Amino acid sequence: MKVLVLGSGGREHALVWKLKQSPSVEEVYVIPGSDALADIAHVVPLYKTEDIIDFAKLMKIDLTVAGPENILVEGIADLFEQEGLTFFGPSKAAAQIEGSKQFAKNLMKKYHIPTADYETFTDREKAISYIQQQKKYPIVIKADGLASGKGVVIAETEKAAIETVNAMISGAAFGKAGESIVIEEYMEGEELSVLGFADGETIIPMISSQDHKRIFDDDKGLNTGGMGAYAPTVLLTEETRKTIRETILYPVMEAMKKEGVPFKGCLYTGLMMTKDGPKVVEFNCRFGDPETEAILPLLESDLGEIMMSCAKGTLKGTTLQWKEGYAVDVVLASAGYPIGHSTGEKIRGIKWAEKECLVFHSGTKKKEGKYVVNGGRVLNVVGVAATLKEAQEKAYYGASVIQWEGMQYRHDIADKGLKHLLDKEREKKS
Ligand code: AMP
Ligand code: GLY
Repeated sequence: MKVLVLGSGGREHALVWKLKQSPSVEEVYVIPGSDALADIAHVVPLYKTEDIIDFAKLMKIDLTVAGPENILVEGIADLFEQEGLTFFGPSKAAAQIEGSKQFAKNLMKKYHIPTADYETFTDREKAISYIQQQKKYPIVIKADGLASGKGVVIAETEKAAIETVNAMISGAAFGKAGESIVIEEYMEGEELSVLGFADGETIIPMISSQDHKRIFDDDKGLNTGGMGAYAPTVLLTEETRKTIRETILYPVMEAMKKEGVPFKGCLYTGLMMTKDGPKVVEFNCRFGDPETEAILPLLESDLGEIMMSCAKGTLKGTTLQWKEGYAVDVVLASAGYPIGHSTGEKIRGIKWAEKECLVFHSGTKKKEGKYVVNGGRVLNVVGVAATLKEAQEKAYYGASVIQWEGMQYRHDIADKGLKHLLDKEREKKS
């Protein structure tokens, strides 16, 4: 089949790379793509939805896959399907599970899916009096709409909470996305994510993964789009995996169906492993970034075929095959990220890193045939190996041979996983 991937970042690079290995896939096209994607697939620089749909029809594309959330929330899946084109990704109505925190929280409340207690507000005074009644800090304040993963504030004090409410509701902090807010209880625990292939009816979870959202080591500093990830996590037992399926994944699929908005595509579930069991932090309506760059290198099944089953509603009975071992993805970011970022610095060493690692490009472009920096998150260097330690060593070897002026990265990606493995060993011995 011919597959069209929409997007241009590291997640799409990993998707395209994996689709190219799928026996069922003959050609992969990418819109709008990037210079790095042009090295492995046909990149078509189109930007208007009507032109993209025209292209898909003209080229007889069998399956279109969306990378980023914004186009899904705007309803691209519906536009393709209205034209008789097969699409991997949720409808506009189903994409609300990410597009509106309020929609997701109300759905979880109605269908008893475990998550933090919350209230939603558009009125400043009411929000502030709720915070003053709660008197429990930290307290979490979220802009309702899409805010590129940055619309969440964990306020440690009443003063900080009130300042956040004022900034969000006035529109100063996140524009329209923040005019309606969700205030919720702070959940204590370790965070991980489980992505699942979904066809509206059935959901099949992938291996679990753990993102590292803060800019600095030991989870310090500002939140980012994600500074690295590893997969699988070593946090889940057979039993917790079953609990996640039975109390969260299956019920949310059922809930979406009952609400008349069945979910198909990739459902991303962000989880907090609390002392009362796994609870939902958020749902996303697409593949996670950087999780995808760590998960897909371990997938052995035919990705094209699985995605087609999701789009066609025939996923039931599918089993996913995974490689034994681990993958660690270290994100290399440019100077100034996440507040701003530099551009144009010459990148050296990608070829050397590629001898031991996979390198997926998030923000690069070619200048006179050589890659230069073109974004905040620039490259994902992924080590794959039989043990988590070896995968981590490989990824950091790759990171060490790549260089540009001002490059920054975290040095502790997957340390959490290694610590859990050590704890487990100690437990066994004692
Ligand atoms: P979200 O955009 O909802 O995923 O939130 C971004 C990040 O904020 C999450 O990945 C968590 O680290 C943190 N967070 C969000 N909600 C909560 C909560 N209720 N309790 C603790 N941490 C949270
Ligand atoms: N890794 C977090 C996200 O994709 O939203």
